[in-house]
Amino acid sequence: MHSMLVTGGAGFIGANFVRLVNATRDEIKVTVLDKLTYAGNRANLAGLEGVEFVHGDIADATLVDELAQKNDVIVHFAAESHNDNSLEDPSPFIQTNLVGTFTLLEAARKHDVRFHHVSTDEVFGDLEIGADTKFTEATPYAPSSPYSASKAGSDHLVRAWVRSFGLRATISNCSNNYGPYQHIEKFIPRQITNIVDGRSPKLYGTGEQVRDWIHVDDHNRAVLDILDKGIIGETYNIGADQPDINNKQVIELICTLMGLDPADGYEHVNDRPGHDQRYAMDATKLKRELGWRPRFTDLRAGLEQTIAWYRDNEEWWRPAKDATEATYAQRGQ
Ligand code: NAD
Ligand code: TYD
Repeated sequence: MHSMLVTGGAGFIGANFVRLVNATRDEIKVTVLDKLTYAGNRANLAGLEGVEFVHGDIADATLVDELAQKNDVIVHFAAESHNDNSLEDPSPFIQTNLVGTFTLLEAARKHDVRFHHVSTDEVFGDLEIGADTKFTEATPYAPSSPYSASKAGSDHLVRAWVRSFGLRATISNCSNNYGPYQHIEKFIPRQITNIVDGRSPKLYGTGEQVRDWIHVDDHNRAVLDILDKGIIGETYNIGADQPDINNKQVIELICTLMGLDPADGYEHVNDRPGHDQRYAMDATKLKRELGWRPRFTDLRAGLEQTIAWYRDNEEWWRPAKDATEATYAQRGQ
């Protein structure tokens, strides 16, 4: 790997990935392609030297063809990524996640570029709360929301391009990420920034739903391992193998870590329609075949670090806060 195109590199996970590559892989020249939607932010890449930034759309075939020709690997993070937005208006999810991925695949096949597709555990649907089952790479797809359906469709496109056209591609499906630079519409940073602002944290419904939290750096180290050692055509599940923790417990932990009494620190708001109940990833294949291990194995410590980051970087999230909360308020959330 010498020249790497990172789509969505100005978003949460993509920017952390570019920072990781920049800090650890001198031999790789990184170009970011990002449309800078509401979720993308040039400031996420501030201070990085040698990273080229291209402002553009992954569904722009001419631009994508030109960039594919200049790079030997594409790491594809760009997506519309928020379930609640997909319930409000699915159309950008279809355009970016499906048409955008198709456009990249066509350019990658034309120029024989190694492709890695970043996907989510949500393609598998959900599991029963309290069960000890987990998603494996063989779990059938059963997406629930327009977001997860569009990601599931994009995974299928990648597999078809491997099988039909011999594209050199891999896929990873990861559980819920947390860490620095995550947009404040998402669960954990929304609650942290609410508390900083003296607003109450907002729990959807009863808060019994379970998410399998992983630190963004652990996710991105796994993506690098797959690029280095993964087998073409294979899919790898990524998850930190933590004990089940539900949203109510996470919100109460954030309250405690930020000095609020969890008993009356937050409020219940409207539940999400079709809310997936439980996600849990079995990452045995990634660990056994590629030797990956998560480093953040204590959610409490990871949350402490994340809370400190949001406290220290208020100028980063402040401009988006009022508009984000106004959108949620319209939905009773
Ligand atoms: P994000 O919403 O923070 O960032 C997405 C980035 O993609 C933004 O910078 C945005 O400007 C860019 N983008 C959107 N549409 C584009 C387009 N048409 N052309 C070019 N750029 C475009 O998302 P994230 O949380 O960083 O997620 C990144 C990837 O990881 C997504 O593919 C998502 O499905 C996947 N994923 C996310 C999680 C999670 O917990 N956040 C978990 C597993 C997988
Ligand atoms: P989210 O961060 O939107 O990720 P995903 O939909 O990919 O799981 O939400 C994580 C969980 O937190 C999900 O069960 C919905 C819930 N949630 C709340 O309880 N309150 C909130 O304010 C938000 C944004 C999410």
